[in-house]
Amino acid sequence: MKYIIANWKLNGSKSLLSEFLNQFATHSLHNYVVLCPPHLLLSDLDNKHIDNFFMGSQNVSEYDNGAFTGEISAEMLAENKIFHSIVGHSERRTLFSETDEKINIKIKQLLSNNITPILCIGENLEQRNTNTFKKIIDLQLEEAFKNIKIDDQTIIIAYEPIWSIGTGITPDISQIIAVHEFIKTKIKQMYPKNVNQFKITYGGSVNLKNYNTILSSAAVDGVLVGGASLDSRSFYEICNFKN
Ligand code: PGA
Repeated sequence: MKYIIANWKLNGSKSLLSEFLNQFATHSLHNYVVLCPPHLLLSDLDNKHIDNFFMGSQNVSEYDNGAFTGEISAEMLAENKIFHSIVGHSERRTLFSETDEKINIKIKQLLSNNITPILCIGENLEQRNTNTFKKIIDLQLEEAFKNIKIDDQTIIIAYEPIWSIGTGITPDISQIIAVHEFIKTKIKQMYPKNVNQFKITYGGSVNLKNYNTILSSAAVDGVLVGGASLDSRSFYEICNFKN
């Protein structure tokens, strides 16, 4: 079973969501699918009962409550039965000043509300070209999980090289595997007893042409899909990947 996550970013509509739900309601899925639309389109799917299909948030506040205009808390997500949330996407890091410190607090908020974090990490082009990317990824993991104790929760990590997001350029499968193995080794050091609870997925220009190669690797537990997740038929095909 692979983890297939859709990140709609600031796209989508009620009609697109209902098109997706109708498409996914027709067959049962053998992969684990999480659809992350903008907050206003989140629904708890109670009346749909689609096996292995969940909704997720693209972001969460680091605060519990208070005078924080525009924010949505982890508790509010949980109250609305949203039990997955992306955290630390590179667009939030660069466009909305999300620091590793804030990401750490957000992961704590999510875990204490039984929400599965989908933590995005990854290097920019300069860090890749200067071969410092492993150091960056190492640091992002250290900071994200600082003082966090894991019990039996599942944690999803999305390795998303920034130079691949929305560009149509993907790393070679050997490069993807190498980073996934590096992340796994690091997690093993940090959480030797919980390593199997960490699912390591790849994100960045995943589409109908490359998903099969990427998902066929045993080192890849899933994919996070941006642009290609906006087309219900393309995304549905990716979600039906079989080994
Ligand atoms: P992309 O986006 O698939 O459009 O490259 C991925 C992401 O930003 O999560």
